[in-house]
Amino acid sequence: MKFLVANWKMNGDVEFAESFFEKINSIKTENQIVVCPPFPLLYKFKNFSHSLGAQNCSDRKNGAFTGEVSPLLLQNLGCKYVIIGHSERRRIFKESNELIFEKYKTLTELGINPIICVGETEESRPQWRDILSIQLSKFKEDANLSKAIIAYEPVWSIGSGKTPTTSEIHEVLSFIKQTTNSKCPTLYGGSVNIKNISDILQIPSVDGVLIGGASLRIEEFSEMIQCIVC
Ligand code: PGA
Repeated sequence: MKFLVANWKMNGDVEFAESFFEKINSIKTENQIVVCPPFPLLYKFKNFSHSLGAQNCSDRKNGAFTGEVSPLLLQNLGCKYVIIGHSERRRIFKESNELIFEKYKTLTELGINPIICVGETEESRPQWRDILSIQLSKFKEDANLSKAIIAYEPVWSIGSGKTPTTSEIHEVLSFIKQTTNSKCPTLYGGSVNIKNISDILQIPSVDGVLIGGASLRIEEFSEMIQCIVC
């Protein structure tokens, strides 16, 4: 069983969600599929046969935080997973490691599984070990880490069509497993598509993939989720 997490980012509309649901809901697979649409489309996934996730959440449970989205509400809408620390949140919205850790604590307290994204930029590629160690430093000692999933997404690979080699992915994910004492599943994300998914899923340290752009191509995604790699 491998995780396939679909991150729609800020894409899709009501009609797209309906077509996606119709096509994907009926597919039987051994894999664990997690679909993360934008917040306003979550309600379209009621009684979904796969798992539902969100792309972000507040670090607070509820209260006077205008424009924020409560993890309690996400749970209420059926989300079992929430992506936190995506590089777009870190880079564009200036989210810090501290804030991401606060979100993680709130989610694990509620029994929601955080999908923690980490990864280096193109410039910092030679220092990836240091970057990942800093991004993971608060998490690695935490007793709840076994409830989380860690996704390695090199920033230079996201949406670029460029991916690390399979041995580079293996080296980084093995490093993450070592750093965290193998407490949680490790995913790879960044330009995963129908052409490279089987090679990536065959890497021994890869427990699944996080898919952005290709998850919006319904036919391609439906083929991807049926990809069985033993
Ligand atoms: P991509 O995005 O598959 O379009 O590269 C992955 C992600 O950002 O989660």
